[in-house]
Amino acid sequence: MTKTELAYTGIYTNWAREAVLAEVEKQMKPSRFQHVLRVEACAIRLAEKYGASLEACSLAAILHDYAKEHDAQSLKAIVLSQGMDREMIGYGSEIMHGPVGAYYAETLFGITDEAILEAIRQHTIGGETMTLIGKVLFIADYIESGRTFKGVDEARRLAEISLEEAAYFKIEKTIIHLVKKELPIYPGTIYVYNSWIQRKVGKSE
Ligand SMILES: [Fe+2]
Ligand SMILES: [Fe+2]
Repeated sequence: MTKTELAYTGIYTNWAREAVLAEVEKQMKPSRFQHVLRVEACAIRLAEKYGASLEACSLAAILHDYAKEHDAQSLKAIVLSQGMDREMIGYGSEIMHGPVGAYYAETLFGITDEAILEAIRQHTIGGETMTLIGKVLFIADYIESGRTFKGVDEARRLAEISLEEAAYFKIEKTIIHLVKKELPIYPGTIYVYNSWIQRKVGKSE
C-alpha cells in the first residue's frame, strides 16, 4: 500500500473503508479486529446521535488500535523518532499505541484531519480537552457491544445521556482500577483526570 492509494480526501467511499480495513486486519489478531469493527459500529451510532461526522468517526474507529499489537521496540522507536513524550515508554504499548497509531494514520493512510488524528492519539487516556470525534471514539472503545467489565452498563446508560458524563466516568473508573490493581499511572492520565474533575466541580459550584 502506498500513501497515495489511501489518501484521505474527505470523500470516504466504501472502497476506501474496505481498503483501510484490509490493512488494519493485517496488524492484529482476529479477536482484536472484531473489537475494531464493534468500536466502529458503536462510534457511528454515537456520531448519529450526537451529530458528529460519520466518516470521521468511522475512520478514527477503524484506525484506533492500528499499533496496539506492535512490539514495544517498534513503538518506542516511533516515540523517540517523532519526539513524542518519552515518559510513555515506561508504560508500555497500552499508552504508546494511541499516539503511535495517530502517527501511522497520518503517514501511512494520509489522514490530515487533525480531529481524527487527535481522537486516535487520545483514545487510550482521553485528553484534557477533547473534540466531539475524540469523545465518540473514547466512549465507543469503552462500551462497544463486546465489553463486559463491571460498570459497563452504567457507562452505556451515561453515553445515552451525555458524552461528557460517559467520558468522565471512564476517566475516573480507569484511575480507580489502576490504583486498586496497584499499577503505576502514566502522568498524562492524571493531567486528564485533573482537567475533567476541575471542570466537573466548577460546573456544580
Ligand atoms: Fe486502544
Ligand atoms: Fe480499542
